[in-house]
Amino acid sequence: MSDHRKPPVLVTRRLAPGVVERLAPSCAVTQHDEELPMGRAGLLKAVHGRAAVITTLDDVVDDEFLDAAGPALRIVANHAVGTHNIDLAACARRGVPVSNTPGVLTAATADMAWALLLAATRRLGEGERLLRSGRSWAWAPTFLLGMELAGTPLGILGMGRIGRAVARRAAAFDMPVGYHNRTPLPAEPGGGPHWLPLDELLAKSMVLVVTCPLTAATRHLLNADRLAQLPPGAVVVSMTAGVVDELALAAALGSGALSAAAVDNFEHEPAVPPELLAQDRAVLAPHLGSATVRTRQAMGGLAVDNVLAVLAGGAPLTPVAAR
Ligand code: GLV
Repeated sequence: MSDHRKPPVLVTRRLAPGVVERLAPSCAVTQHDEELPMGRAGLLKAVHGRAAVITTLDDVVDDEFLDAAGPALRIVANHAVGTHNIDLAACARRGVPVSNTPGVLTAATADMAWALLLAATRRLGEGERLLRSGRSWAWAPTFLLGMELAGTPLGILGMGRIGRAVARRAAAFDMPVGYHNRTPLPAEPGGGPHWLPLDELLAKSMVLVVTCPLTAATRHLLNADRLAQLPPGAVVVSMTAGVVDELALAAALGSGALSAAAVDNFEHEPAVPPELLAQDRAVLAPHLGSATVRTRQAMGGLAVDNVLAVLAGGAPLTPVAAR
């Protein structure tokens, strides 16, 4: 097919090697092949007339975006499991399907939750900064003591794919697991994670991992009052930006109510609140949850598969329904 007969597709960012190449045989691809986002004005211009667009969490898809795209747009394929950058209702009103990349990033993100959990409970960030600072140090029976995991109650807020993968890994650390989810999961034979009302989960969790999606209902769910319900010295690991109120988290660390926290992504990325940066007991990661070669290839591959399915006249493989 000559290029002018192929459907025009916009890819708003550089993707993992080998991903975009799969669009080339059947699509006329325009790509912003850069590490940084293209910026709003550039995005609105570039999306004009496209039949499909592969977006990232930095690209806000709203009525303005959809107006700029025009009526040829047949799919918004988000390169993320989250879709908080997308006005799903606006897409639904115009009949533009939205897809995401569930499943393929579960293991990498659960691994990162555990990397952060271990770093926070064992004070790895503080230790590393100390060595790199060149300050003197000496092993001592009381030096940089952290929290032991075996037998410590782990709470998981949000028991979707990622929450369940975090729970499975908890068995290796001998941690009893409680969780809160809108709907309790069917009980597992032989025990396993148990559902608790939110208040009870907070009261019982020495380590709380937040994996629920960001929605209108979960935004700042963990505010100052809810953080205060955690046991003294608890540790919070946040894998979803916007659910934990970052300033309330910094304040709880500052007061010593929490002994540590870890945050993988931030509400106003790339900004990180100075209040959190000032907390030595906060382990802060620049949104690395799904950042493995294999997972990013799979996420890109799934976004491409969604585009190809729709452009071939079918339905998206992993559609996202308007909430
Ligand atoms: C990552 O933050 C995602 O939603 O995929």
